[in-house]
Parts: sequence; C-alpha cells; structure tokens
Amino acid sequence: MKTQIIDIQNLDAEGLKRLEAPAALIRNGETVVFPTETVYGLGANALDPEAVKKIFIAKGRPGDNPLIVHVSEIEAVDALVTHIPAKAKILMAAFWPGPLTLIMEKSELIPDEVSPGLDTVAVRFPSHDIARAFIEMAGCPVAAPSANLSGRPSPTEGKHVLEDLNGRVAAIILSADGELGLESTVIDMTVDPPVVLRPGDVTLAELRSVLGEVLVSSNVTRNILPDKVRSPGMKYTHYSPKGELVVVKGKPAEICQKIKSGVDNFHENPMKIGILASDETMETYRKGIILSLGSCDNPKEMARNLFSRLRTFDELGVEKIYAEDIPLNNETLALVNRLYKAAGYTFI
Ligand code: TXA
Ligand code: MG
Repeated sequence: MKTQIIDIQNLDAEGLKRLEAPAALIRNGETVVFPTETVYGLGANALDPEAVKKIFIAKGRPGDNPLIVHVSEIEAVDALVTHIPAKAKILMAAFWPGPLTLIMEKSELIPDEVSPGLDTVAVRFPSHDIARAFIEMAGCPVAAPSANLSGRPSPTEGKHVLEDLNGRVAAIILSADGELGLESTVIDMTVDPPVVLRPGDVTLAELRSVLGEVLVSSNVTRNILPDKVRSPGMKYTHYSPKGELVVVKGKPAEICQKIKSGVDNFHENPMKIGILASDETMETYRKGIILSLGSCDNPKEMARNLFSRLRTFDELGVEKIYAEDIPLNNETLALVNRLYKAAGYTFI
C-alpha cells in the first residue's frame, strides 16, 4: 500500500487544509496515523467494522485486544455509551481534553470489533490540537491504538511510525513529537470505586483528589511487588526492544556495580551491550552504549524518553540492555510500569 505522508507543524490555515485529505480517508473507511499528546495513534472510523478490522491488520494486533475510541468533544460520548456515570463526568470535567481514557458500558453504536466480547468501550478526548482538529474534521469517533507494530515500543516520534507502519496504512500525519511519551491513564468507570487499569500522566493522586477512593488493578500493582514475580519465563511482549532488557535493582551504588560487572562479563563486543542510565549516573559507566533517560529529578522527561531510547538501542544493534531501576512514587508509577513490562519483569 502506498502511504501518504502529511507533515503538519502548525494548525494554521495551511495546516488545516492539509488535514482534509486524511480526514476524508477516515470517512472512506481507511486507516490514518495521527499525533496525540501521548503517543501516535493508528486511527479508523470507530463506527465502521470493516475500517476497524484494518487497524488490527496494520498493527498485527491480536483481534481480542480492545481499542480506545477518540472524540473531539465531550458531547460526542453520549452516543457511544449507555450512560455516563456521575464520577466519569467529574473526571471529564477535571482532565479532558487530556491523557485519560474512561471505560464505560458501550451503546449499540459500537461495533463488536472495537471491544470484542466486552460490553464496555474505552473513550478518550485527546488534547493535542492536531488530533482534535483531525477527529472533528473526520466527523466520526476515531478508534486508535498506539501506532506501533504489535509488541514494539509505542511510537513517540515520527520516525518510529515510519519504521513500523509506512506501507501498511493509508496515511501518516507527522507533527512535532508528543509531549508526554507514555500512553494515557486508563480507568474503569463501570465499577465503584473506579479501578486504574493502566497508569499514565494523570496520576493516582490526581484522580483521588477529585474522586476520593480509586483502586489500582493487580496488573499494575504487580510492579510494586516485583520480587514476587521474578519470572523471566513469563511471556510479556509489550513494548519490548529487540535486545534482552533487564532492570537492575538495589541501592544506587549497588546498581552501578551490578551493571559494571555485567558489562565486564559480557564476552562479546561491548558495543552490543546497552545501559539505560540517568543524567546523574551516566558518567560513572565507561563501556557499552550508555543512554540517559533524563534527570532523576524530572520524571516527566524520563517518561517522554523511555520508548525512544528503547528503539535507539535496537537501531544500534544492542543485544542486552541493563536498565537502572527507578524509585517508585506517584509521579513515576506509569514510567516504572512500562519499564518493567518492557523487561518482561526480569530483574537482577
Ligand atoms: O494514549 C493512548 O491511550 C494512546 C493514544 C493513541 O490515544 N492509545 C493507546 O491505545 O495506547 P492502545 O490500544 O495501545 O492501548 C489501549 C489500552 C489497552 O491496554 C487495552 O487493552 C485497553 O486500553 N482497553 C481498551 N478498551 C478497553 C475496554 N473496553 N476494557 C478494558 N480495557 C480496554
Ligand atoms: Mg499500545
């Protein structure tokens, strides 16, 4: 398939004009990649089952993994769900548009392909100006998973999208890189108290500040008790780089020591070994491909860089990656969750 590449840096008159062709493609049942404030999304008309099927084909995604439906105004949600729970209204008022996805009971309008076998649908109103204008111009809700091949790190830069999906979708809208870098917070509003299924930029503390009690799915808290699940054999293919990634735990000096001896004991070319460090620690290493996630004092910067760094190790042909563990707190929960998943919960 020949993919149209559309570059839009500003949403001025020219930028809006460039959105017309991809918006028309969505109306015609085709797939279009578009930027959001989290990661790029691979979109299609959420109300058109044939269009939605094309998303799964383009990504190579297992057909039973449900998609997020993106809207460009709160009013559009009414038609997609049976009802909006009072607490969901509170969240929409507090955090939309933005990186928060709400799961509610789906209406008849949602085809089974969007959330196969479930009676719920995930809905998000992104804040990225191009995403909003694009959905509005398409004139329909847009189903979109992250625009990576299934199992690869989510795309935070245009080049990642081109790497994974050029030739597999009708069009790709490229823009400035997303500001957040990790996918949205997903919260199940069909239960009370609501349950966070995936942590993201909207933190637990922020959710609790407006809702009171909010629970966290055991899939996420598994991260908080990692020693219980030290199980390298477990098959998690999410976000994985091609090289083997392990998270190195311990006190700061211990982490550094473990990584150094790991590098020394790796008998092949040290350039095949990667170290995912921080601005504060990267100078302490001498051998291997050393990349910094950013400053430990700036978890947002680290979140923005994670997927991009994993892809850089791939590009450099790194076969084994040691990642320094990241202290867990409210601000780092999403980052730690993605790092551990990428490592398949492998720790040393
Ligand atoms: O930031 C984001 O959320 C990005 C951008 C493109 O909006 N999208 C994204 O989509 O990350 P995806 O498909 O990669 O992740 C959606 C997550 C998956 O873990 C999926 O299982 C979950 O949301 N999900 C979607 N619908 C659901 C439902 N009805 N019930 C439970 N989980 C659902
Ligand atoms: Mg994804």
